[in-house]
Amino acid sequence: MEHYNLRNLQADLRKLLAFGLDEDSVEKVKELMARYKSQPKDWQDKEIWSKKKYTRTLLDKGNGHYNLMILCWNTGQESPIHNHPNSHCFMKTLKGEVFEELYKNPDMTPCESCCGCKMEKIDDRVYKLNDVAHITDADGLHRLGNKSHVNGAVTLHLFSPPFSTCKKYDDDTGKSTEVPMGYDHDFTEQCCARSCCSK
Ligand code: SIN
Repeated sequence: MEHYNLRNLQADLRKLLAFGLDEDSVEKVKELMARYKSQPKDWQDKEIWSKKKYTRTLLDKGNGHYNLMILCWNTGQESPIHNHPNSHCFMKTLKGEVFEELYKNPDMTPCESCCGCKMEKIDDRVYKLNDVAHITDADGLHRLGNKSHVNGAVTLHLFSPPFSTCKKYDDDTGKSTEVPMGYDHDFTEQCCARSCCSK
């Protein structure tokens, strides 16, 4: 039987989210992402590794309804605590293991101190190979990262609706700053007419 590969997943996501994400499609996105079993040959050519920070590589703009991307986490790299403004974040582990720290959203439970309040952690989670996770701001804010000192990790993320900025939060004060969500590479933009650059 033919393997359900990343291209199959991308095609099914396109169909499912042709008119955007609704309540019913949340579970279906999770099911599709779980159905896909990671095969490095599907995404290895999209890996970008940096010693400075984890990298973000855009795979699909989902007709404006979602962004699908691959993140590469070198050893010890992690994100700041951040939100997903009015969006659903789905994540699947393609390689290695990633941790998630879940925090209370200080914008929903305002801090009384003028110096700010330490971010309150509400959960610690670990996602192993092929695990699928889902979060919205109603669940909390999160930090993701790779604790391994030896192995890199690769994750697949779908954000719907897409967003281009988010808020990052200071661990000690809970103060937030709006930051752009850039890409290290965009595979949806063809850089030349050669087949090596086609989607
Ligand atoms: C990011 O998008 O840079 C962090 C990963 C996530 O929130 O899923």
